Amino acid sequence: MKGIILAGGAGTRLHPVTLAVSKQLVPVYNKPMIYYPLSVLMLADITDILIITTPTDLPAFRRLLGDGSWLGLTIDYAEQPEPNGLAEAFLIGADHIGDEDCALILGDNIFHGPGFSQLLQDKAHDLKGCVLFGYPVSDPHRHGIGEVDENGNLVSLEEKPANPKSNRAVTGLYFYDNDVVQFARSLEPSARGELEITDLNRIYLERGRATVVDLGRGFAWLDTGTHDSLLDAGQYVRTLEERQGVRIACLEEIALRRGFISPQQCYDLGERMGNSGYAKYVMEIARSAGAGRN
Ligand code: DAU
Repeated sequence: MKGIILAGGAGTRLHPVTLAVSKQLVPVYNKPMIYYPLSVLMLADITDILIITTPTDLPAFRRLLGDGSWLGLTIDYAEQPEPNGLAEAFLIGADHIGDEDCALILGDNIFHGPGFSQLLQDKAHDLKGCVLFGYPVSDPHRHGIGEVDENGNLVSLEEKPANPKSNRAVTGLYFYDNDVVQFARSLEPSARGELEITDLNRIYLERGRATVVDLGRGFAWLDTGTHDSLLDAGQYVRTLEERQGVRIACLEEIALRRGFISPQQCYDLGERMGNSGYAKYVMEIARSAGAGRN
């Protein structure tokens, strides 16, 4: 399965913070925002990833993540000159996807919860149609909202409805089979001039091929759209990291644990990063995995 991170847009709700810096590079506590969605793809065992962003911001993402080889990944980049809609990712990314399935994650979505890695791998395996990830929210009118039957099949889907039929938001993580490229090509721009992901998902729904996996209680899907929600997300990460002594979305750790890099490679990454707490953590986990023992 291929992966795409969509990290474009102007981030207008975070101005002036995002006037000179891409929203998806703004820190969430101690790491750039894009680390979080990238970690989700890595947890799903996806190693071939396309990052789509604006022509202005692309060089900064490349500076941060390079070709991905330091994490045992292949990372490519593509431009989305205008925010023409989330589904445009599949037109821009058609060559990247080739004849494989594809996971799309929005570059500003943060997920964290127990058993997530296994869940992702189970759903990515032998994928048919599309799999959406649902999450209960208190403000359903601000999200894509889905209704499902008792088997988890999607039966209705609306984008930011005035009168929501449920409180189940469709999060910014989507798994699709290879038909997604062809379906995206058939989309017409919506009233607001965008190729809407909700219209794309409706094509799968109409064919009875869309399912929703609910991320249960105790799972965190965090918003980063406003200054307040961004601060809340940072506080969440800080609280868990300080209390448990572990790191959320530490890319080097995930690469090590998934076997994308060796303990020694992981140690070297930490050593090269200087003397931040993050760097020390990377060296520590590499050492406990066997780096430097011989
Ligand atoms: O976060 C989940 C929600 O994401 C879903 O519940 C909705 O169904 C889905 O439409 C989307 O809603 P948003 O209101 O969050 O979409 P927004 O237009 O704000 O775009 C989300 C992110 O994607 C944002 O960081 C900007 C980026 N983006 C957006 C567009 C339209 C792009 O990179 N390119 C684009 O063309």
